[in-house]
Parts: sequence; structure tokens; C-alpha cells
Amino acid sequence: MPTIGFGTFLLQGDALRSSLDYALFLGYRLIDTAYSYSNEADIGQVLKDRMKSGKMKRKDVFITTKIAKTHLKRAAAIRCLQKSLQDLGTSYADSVLIHSPWGMVNTDPGSDVQFDSAHFTETWTALQSLFQDGSARSIGVSNFTLKQMKRILNSDGPPPSHLQMECHAYLAQNKLKTFCDANNIAVTAYAPLGAPAYPVDESEREKRLLSDPCIVEIAKRVHKSPAQVLLKFLMQRGMAVVPKSKNRDRIKENFDSTNWKLSNDNFDMILKLDCGVKYFKFTNRKGHPEYFPDKDF
Ligand SMILES: NC(=O)c1ccc[n+]([C@@H]2O[C@H](COP(=O)([O-])OP(=O)(O)OC[C@H]3O[C@@H](n4cnc5c(N)ncnc54)[C@H](OP(=O)(O)O)[C@@H]3O)[C@@H](O)[C@H]2O)c1
Repeated sequence: MPTIGFGTFLLQGDALRSSLDYALFLGYRLIDTAYSYSNEADIGQVLKDRMKSGKMKRKDVFITTKIAKTHLKRAAAIRCLQKSLQDLGTSYADSVLIHSPWGMVNTDPGSDVQFDSAHFTETWTALQSLFQDGSARSIGVSNFTLKQMKRILNSDGPPPSHLQMECHAYLAQNKLKTFCDANNIAVTAYAPLGAPAYPVDESEREKRLLSDPCIVEIAKRVHKSPAQVLLKFLMQRGMAVVPKSKNRDRIKENFDSTNWKLSNDNFDMILKLDCGVKYFKFTNRKGHPEYFPDKDF
């Protein structure tokens, strides 16, 4: 799996198509999407156009997609991936993840929250079948706690090879990272820049990672941007990163974070910023038996 990818949460339509096309032109080779992002047909269109004009082949790009929380039942999970593949215009995904361990009946804004009784262990058996039939080249999970990871790992059949979790300088996730390293599970850090556009309500934002004084100071010292420092830090910890941007300068800036190194001193200073801040709290799932109140996930 490439170490830097293009995140696509909250990106759709023209903005997605032009920014993704530019990202692929620059050399991004990992695309992170999900059924629930409602943008897989747009991504499929970009891939189709680039392949048609001979600019790339399917095997040149690594696509991660995710089974929605509304599709945790076995048959629904299989349908969910089939729809993703159809929209993406491909016969396989490079990585298929269970998006989150809690099932929901619907996610319409304003509607009553209703949990689905389906359990992620059922979804996992669906993913194992999809792996065996080749439509998922690798399988894994996202937003899982250590306990939930162990449950999957201890089940029969192919093990998970990928965990995607919120991880950045304010949220080190050391226990999960150590567990994944010990079990050969690749880690992707989502919200690597602290997801400055999420949640939309600024009053909920505890700390702004991109303007943290320590990050800004290190960035000045090494003649890089704060975003480049944050991305490099995670890559140096052995994780893939999937920053999202719809802005060409920032798409390039993020991609240019690959070919240099943070000194040990600077790296250690950033390690000390870990303070457990989670930007993605998924509060509307509170009360679900698999909801993580305040644990690593
Ligand atoms: N598995 C999950 O549950 C889950 C949850 C969340 C996210 N994800 C994945 O992870 C990806 C990244 O997370 P995210 O999009 O939430 O957060 P993020 O990548 O940490 O931050 C994206 C935000 O940062 C801005 N930005 C991007 N590059 C920048 C730069 N160089 N300097 C300053 N600002 C910059 C973007 O604005 P502009 O677009 O205006 O540049 C955007 O508002 C998602 O797109 C998605 O693919 C997965």
C-alpha cells in the first residue's frame, strides 16, 4: 500500500473529479473512499477517463473502500461492495474495510437514531468471503478498539491486514499501533491534519492541530509547512496517511511531504503533543453496545 493517499471524505462532483485527477497526475496512487461518501461514481469516472487515455492502468492505483454501518448484515455487506465496485468501475478493491463496528438502521439527518442488531463479526465473515472470491484483495477494519480488533483476529479464516483509525499528533494511538505492528496489520491514519473542516461547529473544536505552536515552530525550522510536518511525523511512525484537499496547492504540498525526514529531536517533540484529542466522536452512536466511550479506537 502506498504511504500517502488521497482522502475523499466530503468531496463529490466536479470538486472531487478535478482534485482527484490532479492528485493522480502528481503521482498519488492510493485513493481512500467509502460507500457512505457517495462519491464512488465520480471516482470511477476519473479512473475510467485516465485509463481510456492511457495515462494509467487499474493496477497502478490502490483503492480502499468501506462497508457502510447500514450494511453490517452479511448479504447487505456483499451488496454494498458490489455497488461500490460497480460505481468505481472495477472488479476488485485493493482494500475493503468495515467502516465502523456499530450498525445503524438509517443515517438520514434529522431521523431518529436506530441501531442495527447485526454484529460486526457477521460482516467480517462476509469480508472473508469477498477476499476469497477476489473482489477484495485485502480486508480490514476501521474505527475498531483493541478489544474489537482482537475479536476479529481470533476468529477463523483470513485475518485483517489493515486498520484505519483517527491518528495525528494529538492522538498517538500507541496501543493500537503496537498491536498492529505485532500482528502484521498495516495502519492508515485518517484525519492526519486534524480534520480542520470537521465538525463544522467551531465551538466543538478543542484544539487546532495545524496551528499548534510546536508544529508551526518545527515547520519554520525545517522550511516545510505545518501540514507537511504532521504528515511526515505519521509516515515516520510507519503509517500511511490519507489527507484530503480540494485545493491544488495543498494537494501538491501534501504529496511533497514524502521525500525528507524529521530529525529525532523534532520527532520526539511531536510525540509529546499526544493528548488524546479525538475529532471524530460519532456521538450519535452513543448507547450502541460497540460504541467506544473514551478508549483508543
Ligand atoms: N474511516 C473513517 O471513519 C474516516 C473518518 C474520517 C476520514 N477518513 C478518511 O481520511 C481522510 C482525511 O481525513 P479528513 O478529510 O477528515 O481530514 P484531514 O485530511 O486531516 O483534513 C482535511 C482538511 O484539511 C484541509 N487541508 C488539506 N491539506 C491542507 C494543507 N496542506 N494545509 C492546510 N489545510 C489543509 C482541507 O481543506 P481543503 O480541502 O480546502 O484543502 C480539509 O478541510 C478523509 O478524506 C477520508 O478519506 C476516514
